[in-house]
Amino acid sequence: MKNKNKQLHAKSINQPEAFWAEAASQIDWFSPWNNVLDDSEAPFYHWFKGGKLNTCYNAVDRHVDAGRGDQIALQYVSPVTDVEYGISYRELLAQVSRLAGYMDSIGVKKGDRVVIYMPMVPETAFAMLACARIGAIHSVVFGGFAANELATRINDAKPKLILSASCGIEPSGIIPYKPLLDAALDQATHKVDHCLVLNRGQLEAELFPGRDIDWQAAVAAAPNIDCQPLDATDPLYILYTSGTTGQPKGVVRDNGGHAVALAWSMKHIYDINAGDVFWAASDVGWVVGHSYIVYGPLLVGATSILYEGKPIGTPDPGAFWRTIAKYRVKSFFTAPTAIRAIKRDDPHGDYLEGVDLSCLKNVFLAGERCDPDTLHWTEGKLKKPVIDHWWQTETGWPVAANLMGYAPVEIKAGSPALAVPGYQIEVVDVMGDEVEANESGNVVIKLPLPPGTLTTLWQNEQRYQDSYLSMYPGYYLTGDAGYKDEDGYLYIMSRIDDIINVAGHRLSTGRFEEVLCQHEAVAEAAVIGVKDVLKGQVPLGLVVLKKGVSLNDDDLNQQLMSLVRQEIGPVASFRLVSAVQKLPKTRSGKILRGTMRNIADNQSYNVPATIEDPATLDIVRNTLTRMGYADAHV
Ligand code: COA
Ligand code: AMP
Repeated sequence: MKNKNKQLHAKSINQPEAFWAEAASQIDWFSPWNNVLDDSEAPFYHWFKGGKLNTCYNAVDRHVDAGRGDQIALQYVSPVTDVEYGISYRELLAQVSRLAGYMDSIGVKKGDRVVIYMPMVPETAFAMLACARIGAIHSVVFGGFAANELATRINDAKPKLILSASCGIEPSGIIPYKPLLDAALDQATHKVDHCLVLNRGQLEAELFPGRDIDWQAAVAAAPNIDCQPLDATDPLYILYTSGTTGQPKGVVRDNGGHAVALAWSMKHIYDINAGDVFWAASDVGWVVGHSYIVYGPLLVGATSILYEGKPIGTPDPGAFWRTIAKYRVKSFFTAPTAIRAIKRDDPHGDYLEGVDLSCLKNVFLAGERCDPDTLHWTEGKLKKPVIDHWWQTETGWPVAANLMGYAPVEIKAGSPALAVPGYQIEVVDVMGDEVEANESGNVVIKLPLPPGTLTTLWQNEQRYQDSYLSMYPGYYLTGDAGYKDEDGYLYIMSRIDDIINVAGHRLSTGRFEEVLCQHEAVAEAAVIGVKDVLKGQVPLGLVVLKKGVSLNDDDLNQQLMSLVRQEIGPVASFRLVSAVQKLPKTRSGKILRGTMRNIADNQSYNVPATIEDPATLDIVRNTLTRMGYADAHV
């Protein structure tokens, strides 16, 4: 199987145009492209330039035309509201074309941006598809972000319209979204004319006359609208992701390459074809939700489960298994952290008893490194292949994976397996030279990236080049470090920048530091990601107080935690913070975050020769030990 895999990969690299033209035959085009790959503006590459298509047509209309109208397109499963229902492709078409018709009627046109700030309800998928239908560019903002983060994204994307809901529902209770939306709009400098608000039965939101419109009423009265032919290179969406500064990066995805790559990945990686049932237990606010709750499964005519709940506590750690059995899920995708949560609450797998998982062929894990314990536990309990695969918001679909629908290879614990066709992955040293097998280095991908990957950062080509392309000319910098073994298997071990991964959610330590420094008592702050048994990593903050400030530790900590929650959102999971007298720095003033992280996680480290004051490391170690990190004896 490895050879078959190698041949396919070699074809994708040696004859990329032939490879992707063949893959593009899975998509319906209104008119064909002039060039499969246009490299005339390298390092900006364009796939399928000149081609015209519509992503919504490919995800919805064509399946109805082909006789799949009665098949369930989206299966909504909401243990937090106790509601479950299926939406057929025919109903999906009706909902999406009316919502698109409404958007068109209020003047939303091709190229306009639409921000979607919504929970995991079917209307969120309708909203994305409706934008795609008329060529509006959607930008979904995850519901766990606070008003301020939403405002930042509104200012950058400058939407004409915002779609939102009255509330989300978390195990802790009802989360009112509308006040967050109102606060974000107050804070944003960009002004938005209209907000379409979905009032959910659990909490009615007050609508402001003139600006806010009731979703149900508006859509009921709207005309249907047809799909607009779009250029393959027209943007489909912007998805903001954490960079190393507080300002998130707006990853731009096009229409043509995206549709082709996702359809290819559904079949070859996830082994999903028309009529199969696929479940990605993530959130539409993240890239996994964009690619594998909404677009991927629908592009190939599969049924996608849209789950509003958690792996545990809604109501118990058997919820995933029962849902898989009930809806006959063939491939299931979640994050390792979700499995760790289930394992913690049900270590012996008691909740699996009597659940018929014969439908389930493969379990896919991504979003963070999959530790071998989690992999083995899942394999042992489910008795199914468990497939770690690696990718990022920027790539939009897997970079390294096991091709379960084409030629599965041996599973090696701790590795997302081999480079996926289209991606030429290298592990390089600081000079850009490829390192030997089993030696660690920076993981880079040779340009051009395959279809479906980011085309640029929204309105910021310079930042795109600076962040990803300038360190190693001709290569895309993934920001991850790792190694390849002698068989070419990749191992992703850590980030090389200040991004941390909390329960599969990507967050910037720079943003945390900015927020901590807003507190009037704080002179300086450093935030690092420390190991966590459940969430993989959690943020830990150390602050230096301004001279003369006297606040007791508990009060300070409470205030800082609330500040982060208010400014970034609950998703930040910020619960570890302490004051220190001084932070360890180099003589040029650079905070030694890497060294502090190693101390916290009990890893070996060298004291940099350029350290300003070696005693600061002892101060930090003592503080970390008090906080339950950095064993005193190490
Ligand atoms: N809207 C509003 N609030 C949200 C939210 C949303 N969409 N998603 C999460 N939150 C809130 C939670 O309610 C929680 O708030 P709290 O501090 O008041 O309890 C906080 O954000 C942290 O949430 P979460 O990350 O879900 O942690 P948890 O401790 O509640 O649950 C897990 C732990 C492991 C069960 C959970 O993190 C999980 O399901 N992880 C799966 C990860 C995943 O799917 N990642 C996507 C990438 S593939
Ligand atoms: P995001 O952009 O939020 O999807 O986060 C992408 C980052 O998560 C990657 O750059 C990695 O650091 C990490 N990541 C995702 N999947 C994996 C995986 N399978 N193994 C190791 N790290 C992963």
